[in-house]
Amino acid sequence: MWDQRFAGEAYFYGTQPNLFLTQQAHRIRPGGRVLAVADGEGRNGVWLASQGFDVVAVDSSQAGLAKTRRLAGERNVCLKTLEADLLDWDWPVGGFDAVVAIFIQFAGPDDRSGLFENIKQAVKPGGVVLMQGYRPEQVALGTGGPPDPEHLYTEPMLREAFGDFDIEHLEAHDSDIREGVGHAGRSALIDLVARKPGG
Ligand SMILES: C[S@@+](CC[C@H](N)C(=O)[O-])C[C@H]1O[C@@H](n2cnc3c(N)ncnc32)[C@H](O)[C@@H]1O
Repeated sequence: MWDQRFAGEAYFYGTQPNLFLTQQAHRIRPGGRVLAVADGEGRNGVWLASQGFDVVAVDSSQAGLAKTRRLAGERNVCLKTLEADLLDWDWPVGGFDAVVAIFIQFAGPDDRSGLFENIKQAVKPGGVVLMQGYRPEQVALGTGGPPDPEHLYTEPMLREAFGDFDIEHLEAHDSDIREGVGHAGRSALIDLVARKPGG
């Protein structure tokens, strides 16, 4: 499904970085190692690399990763691309200053807690998780995201999942976003910045 979606010349979610990411990236250690999970066609990973971070972009879509490399070439930046199924991956432990997880709502309730635990485990003490996703109210808006509300995030869900991290920012909001044709219009969003204690 994702390879088909990413097959064309156009970037389905555009080539500009996610706004939340650009607003919160200052919380990542300058020059730090960043794991951009389910990074799609690379708009976020490539932007992070352009800001001086050492980026690994992981996704299961070969087409997405090929476009990530193309975008990186056009922007004259370097990052590492990795093809992996994040639900069946030998996740790194503690090696990253940040994990960036923007619209990774392919995981339903059965897979979500394991995925979140792996994300948390990949972060070094003192590192951060930057996450943005849709809330269940998004289903009625129909401007992007999976149609199943069980895949979407609520504030109590994220507060509980990241309860052992310091939550520096957690905000539910309705905003107009324009990210290619994939995310277009009024959207029910939730933003999280959570820092691993220690470090
Ligand atoms: C909504 S897109 C978001 C892409 C990117 N984060 C962005 O904001 O532009 C979801 C991404 O999840 C990836 N994906 C879906 N299932 C996956 C899995 N099991 N493992 C790794 N990536 C997956 C898709 O290939 C797609 O790139």
